[in-house]
Amino acid sequence: MTLYAKSFSGSDEMIGIEYGGEEFLLQIKPENKVTLLKYDKVTRPLNVNLLKEALARVSDELGLEILSSNIVTSNTKQPFSSEYYKKVEDFEHIDFSRKKVSVEVGFGSGKHLLYQADKNPDTLFIGLEIHTPSAQQLLKQIALQKRENIWVVNYDARLFLEMLPSNLCEKIFVHFPIPWDKKPHRRVINSSFLKESMRVLQPEGRLELRTDSIKYFWYALETFFALPKIELSVRKNEALEVISKYEARWKRQKKDIFDVYVKCKESSQKRQTIVDFNFNIVKYRNSLEKELPQKPLIFEGFFVHIERIYKIEDDGLLIKCAFGSFDRPEHKYLILNKNGCRYFVSSPVKTKVNYRAHLKIMELLNV
Ligand SMILES: C[S@@+](CC[C@H](N)C(=O)[O-])C[C@H]1O[C@@H](n2cnc3c(N)ncnc32)[C@H](O)[C@@H]1O
Repeated sequence: MTLYAKSFSGSDEMIGIEYGGEEFLLQIKPENKVTLLKYDKVTRPLNVNLLKEALARVSDELGLEILSSNIVTSNTKQPFSSEYYKKVEDFEHIDFSRKKVSVEVGFGSGKHLLYQADKNPDTLFIGLEIHTPSAQQLLKQIALQKRENIWVVNYDARLFLEMLPSNLCEKIFVHFPIPWDKKPHRRVINSSFLKESMRVLQPEGRLELRTDSIKYFWYALETFFALPKIELSVRKNEALEVISKYEARWKRQKKDIFDVYVKCKESSQKRQTIVDFNFNIVKYRNSLEKELPQKPLIFEGFFVHIERIYKIEDDGLLIKCAFGSFDRPEHKYLILNKNGCRYFVSSPVKTKVNYRAHLKIMELLNV
């Protein structure tokens, strides 16, 4: 056991475990005269069997009499075990295996991406998709078709682009994005996505939007025209060599299809990278827990929510918090004691919103 912490507001306890080379938290929760021992969602390792072994070991060490258990180790595979699956944090130091790089946002079934990768073997295609089953499906296809020039990232494209260096990409494909007529803030295309796209595109590189929604088409044009310098071309009902499932559906319904191509006309400055998520001089002070806000704090473009506070002995805290962007928040634990403060297990992904939230957390802890 590497850590023991007790909740201020309830009867649950957290224990830190180092097992099989991984560090994570387990929760002990008394419930109706029995005790529930379970893994913590935020820090859980991907390897399910490792987790189950650790739970069995800890319940044994704590001398808990097991009344019921769903611990059966199985030979289930890890959800993403392919070398072509990349985590967003991998891009903090990544070697793009090819000189030419293109991106597809929201690849869905992956039909267009597989087609492009086959046609352009010297280009690396980075496919971004928030829908996990679609990402898993594409990884299967990559293995079946022995494709070596596609990377799959299961992350929000609006945040991911920040991780790419400037002037890297030849193309960014955005095919049939969800129009989100009633929730426009969820649209992939917005002014900050566009700004980032222009930064990561090489001069003469282009963003290709294809949509069946006339409303989205006009909305995108308006967004594109806000850029200081662009070259824009528009097409209606242009036939492509590959037709996705969505496009086939719209075609059957005899819907019009619109393409908007935005060409990047200038080279961008080097991206400013975030160096670290250190807490520098932040340390535990007596009664700090009483001064921390209990409700979420909302700021322009990000939030910070201290969700739960646990006490570690007499002079330390384990703090569970959510923060960062509204669409893809980070969930992390902080460990704070008389010597300093750190994120438990791993730091947040190095995006600008996470960094702004981190600075706000430092401010809160320094009150
Ligand atoms: C209507 S489907 C189109 C799929 C595919 N491009 C096609 O033409 O068949 C839109 C896809 O975008 C994905 N998506 C939506 N928002 C996204 C985001 N912010 N980042 C990455 N993918 C996103 C959805 O999960 C969905 O698979």
